[in-house]
Amino acid sequence: MDVREIPVETLNPSSFIAEKTAEIAAAVGDGLAINALSGGVDSSVVTLLAHRALGPKLKTYFIDNGLMREGEPQQVLALFRSLGVPVELVDAQAAFFAALKGRSDPERKRQAITDTFYKTVFGRLVRETGARHLLHGTIYTDVEETVAGIKRQHNILAQLGIDTREAYGYTVIEPLLQLRKPAVRAVARALGLPEEICNRPPFPGPALTARVIGEANRRRIRLVRQATTIVERHLAGRAFQCMAILHADKVTGIRDGKRAFGHQIEVRCWDTQDAVTAAPTRLPLETLEALADELTRQVPGVVSVTYNITRKPPSTMEAV
Ligand code: XMP
Repeated sequence: MDVREIPVETLNPSSFIAEKTAEIAAAVGDGLAINALSGGVDSSVVTLLAHRALGPKLKTYFIDNGLMREGEPQQVLALFRSLGVPVELVDAQAAFFAALKGRSDPERKRQAITDTFYKTVFGRLVRETGARHLLHGTIYTDVEETVAGIKRQHNILAQLGIDTREAYGYTVIEPLLQLRKPAVRAVARALGLPEEICNRPPFPGPALTARVIGEANRRRIRLVRQATTIVERHLAGRAFQCMAILHADKVTGIRDGKRAFGHQIEVRCWDTQDAVTAAPTRLPLETLEALADELTRQVPGVVSVTYNITRKPPSTMEAV
């Protein structure tokens, strides 16, 4: 990998901001650039850097892929509008669910998300707007894991030998490529982003698809979304990241005194510094029991809740 990392210890956030803003302005010139905001710290930083560099020559979109957490699109839009950054909502749910239909292999699901995002949705936006550049929040760790062959992060293109100009008709600009998460958070603070963004726990690019084992259709995404709301309500703030995973296999349970063949939810909660290695958080059993009670009561069809006790490696943090 020929990208040179800038470690957080040597990063000067204000010089980084000045340098990247100038680079973005020079690369885009008189043209128009577009970017997708998800509300995570990486895409938020890119949005603000590019907004500073380009002003009205930047068009920022929130792509509603139907795979986000409860209320997420509305919250992200409201926050950026309050910061004076115009963001347009694009409803692309149908395109994503069509691409995910019938796919249960993890890498094929990731491929479907990548293709839908870059080819179908952004291809159309590029054609409609005439933009020649796409700004992207890829960070150092995304490249590292993809190149190492651990899993394909949905946003890695050039490093996999994909020529975006040829394949999709636009050039990708990746201002955060040399940074890991702590450095991105330092830049976010220097840009004056609110703490809820600077400290936002990571959320995967493929969104809730990464937490559905097997086919990620509307019904199964809805289930894992409901479970995620409950898990985050109980555990957020206690660890680096917490999540609910919907298993493909059903198991036998009991409801109203009768056999119920129902869903299994796996809860994962991680302690880690850098997400490269991680350990399950040592949660009190009472916390886990309360969580299991609520998940089985509130999420339709759930009859089993498990807690992952495996470290990364050999586990990864997300299940897919
Ligand atoms: P893994 O599952 O690779 O996750 O141990 C490490 C961290 O990266 C976050 N993350 C992603 N994970 N696909 C992933 O599988 C993605 O596109 C992605 N983007 C971010 C993940 O949530 C965990 O914090």
